[in-house]
This record gives sequence, structure tokens and C-alpha cells, in this order.
Amino acid sequence: MTDAIRLPVEQARADELAALAAHDSGVKPEGWALSPRAVERFILGHDDPLEVEIDGATRSVEITRKFFGDDILVQRCIVTLASDRGLLLVGEPGTAKSWLSEHLAAAISGDSRLTVQGSAGLTEDQIKYAWNYALLLAEGPSPKALVPAPLYIGMRRGRIVRFEEITRAPHEVQDTLLMALSDKILTVPELPGDDGVVLARRGFNIIATANTRDRGVNEMSSALKRRFNFETVVPVADLNQEIRIVREQVARLTAGGPAAEVALPDDVLELLVTTFHEVRRGQTADGVKLDRTSAVMSTAEAVSVGLDSALYAAFFGRGEVTPAHVVIHMAGTVVKDDPKDIAALHTYWDVAVKPRAKKALGRWKAFHRARKHLAPR
Ligand SMILES: Nc1ncnc2c1ncn2[C@@H]1O[C@H](COP(=O)(O)OP(=O)(O)OP(=O)(O)O)[C@@H](O)[C@H]1O
Ligand SMILES: [Mg+2]
Repeated sequence: MTDAIRLPVEQARADELAALAAHDSGVKPEGWALSPRAVERFILGHDDPLEVEIDGATRSVEITRKFFGDDILVQRCIVTLASDRGLLLVGEPGTAKSWLSEHLAAAISGDSRLTVQGSAGLTEDQIKYAWNYALLLAEGPSPKALVPAPLYIGMRRGRIVRFEEITRAPHEVQDTLLMALSDKILTVPELPGDDGVVLARRGFNIIATANTRDRGVNEMSSALKRRFNFETVVPVADLNQEIRIVREQVARLTAGGPAAEVALPDDVLELLVTTFHEVRRGQTADGVKLDRTSAVMSTAEAVSVGLDSALYAAFFGRGEVTPAHVVIHMAGTVVKDDPKDIAALHTYWDVAVKPRAKKALGRWKAFHRARKHLAPR
């Protein structure tokens, strides 16, 4: 498994989850792997490292903060998941909705993989169950011939099921969730008696995510909306917090790879994150108004530019990310299909980068010189 590109949270953070479980004295809602307090600590971090015995050796494990922003939002999410309603995380792209959902599922159920990806082509059998047709034809419908999908497994085992981009899924599929959420039951009409009825075990719930930029949030039926508590996740408001997120994420993504040893100096990281932060807000820290881009300038995009810059520094540079490396990779993230976006970046260089370069602040001068790497307007 070590050559997997990305491990599920419950594997990547197995030590932290084990340490939290070992020190967990709180009452667990039935079906939960951890108490609400321990789930909260897993997501928001904990000051003191926890000692835990792993493979016969005592280790001190640091519980890092995974989600930055509104701590009470995280607590409310945990409360919702222990209630009889589902949790719907809505917000702009790249605000860590999926990230939060994955971490909540890993902490509560010890399993974040019961995931359905909403799309126009999603069918009911991809979320409930399908059949092994060879067995079905040979022996007729039987539990053996049933191929369970995430909702079925989550209800049967009492686990959190994640439904990504729920508003992109067709209505028929969304409606399947209604019964699951209100009656906590899933029926398999082809199977007789008890085999045809799955009663959700305690611990089952649904975390759905929806992106406000993709049309559709309003199209969820009001019946289904009523079964969810909505939580709006907003972009990170604090520049320093965002710098920290990008630093940690780039370190996580480069670990063990060709850019693992690459240095990403703080002042270069600051250039990258400040640009994303200010263009997204449509305003510089000094209050100068900026053109907004139609492309998403989220923290997630800043992380990708950071990662690409680190790889570039490893492959073609001297092992240290420079302001020019950042600019080289910025345009590809920002300019997707609207040429006005490149103009917005040039404006940023005129009204934000240039004055800072003139004042010789930090490495803004080098950032300014690297403008030639942006495509022409
Ligand atoms: N507040 C935050 N705290 C921690 N990480 C964040 C935060 N905001 C963004 N990130 C980082 O940004 C990345 C993007 O998150 P994610 O893919 O979960 O976004 P999303 O909201 O699901 O976006 P989309 O709507 O496009 O699916 C994550 O890897 C996460 O590390
Ligand atoms: Mg997402």
C-alpha cells in the first residue's frame, strides 16, 4: 500500500486516531469510534501530544489541526451527525468541504471510503446496490448475488456515508436518500423477508457536499433539504492561517517524492498566498479594489501552485522555490477558459505587486520582475 498516491485519512492518520481512542474517556454515541470531544480534537488539533502504544512501543503522537476556520461550525457538524439529520456542507469551491467530510467520517466511523460522487450519470444502483448478473441468472436473486454500494454498506454497518456534489446528482437518486434519512430503511424488493430490508444501524448518517458555483443547490427538493442541516463553509479569512494551510499541504503532498527536499521559503510562500487571498477577496490588504477572476482562486488552487512550483524547483531549479517559479505556474491555475482572467492578474501586478516592489518589501521585487512569465494580456 505504500506506493499509493494518497491514503484514506483513517490510514494516513492511523496513529492520531489510535492515540485519541486510547485517551478517549468521553461517552460515544452508539456506533461511533470516538466520542464527540475526541472527534473535535482530531479535526481541530490538540495542544499536548498523546502517548500511545503502537506495535509494542510507546509513542508520543501530535494531534495536528486539520481544519482552519470556524471551530463552532465543526462542533455543530459533529452534533448534527449524532442527530437524526444528515449534514450538508455548502460553499465555494476549494473551501475544504470534502476535506472536512473525509476527516469527520474517518474519526466517527473509522472509514471515509463509503463515498458516492454525484454526477449527472449517477444511478440508484451505484448508491444502493447492484447485482452480480452471472449469479443472478444462475440462482436468482439472493443476498449472495447482491453487490452492495456505499449507502447499503453504511446503513448495514452503521457508518457515515459521504455524498459528494449531491446537487449534481439526478433527482431520482437524490430521492433515494429521502427514505434512508427519514425512515432509516433501505428495501431490496427482489429479496424476500428480512433479507429484503436493511434497517440502518446506529452510527449511520450522511455527509453531503455541494458547491455553490455548480448550478443546482436550489434544485434539491424541499423534502430532501429538510432532512439535512446546512453548514456553509467559507474561504479562509486570515492570511496567516492560509499560509499555514498551504505550507502544510505542500509538505504533505511532496513528502516521499522528488520534491521532498525542496525548500519553500516563507517569504516566497507569502507572495503566493497573498496573491490568491487578495484576488479572491477582490481587494488588497491596503484596500485597493481588484478585478476578480472568474476562475476559482481557492486555497486548494494555491496548494496546487505551491506543489507545482516545488516540483519545478526540484526538476529544473536549484532545489529552492523562487518567486519566478510561482509565477510560472500561476497562470495555468488561474486562466481556465476566460482570457479576462489573465488581464485581472496583470492588473494585480500593476496595483498590488508594483507598489510593494518599489518599497522593496520582502521578495516582491523578484515577484514583480517575474511578470514576464504571465501570458500577455
Ligand atoms: N479552512 C481550511 N482548513 C484546512 N484546509 C483547507 C481549508 N480550506 C481549504 N483547505 C485545503 O484546500 C483543499 C481543498 O479542499 P476540498 O477539495 O475539500 O474543497 P471543496 O470545498 O470540497 O471544493 P469543491 O467544491 O471544489 O469540491 C484541501 O486539501 C484543504 O487542505
Ligand atoms: Mg469537494
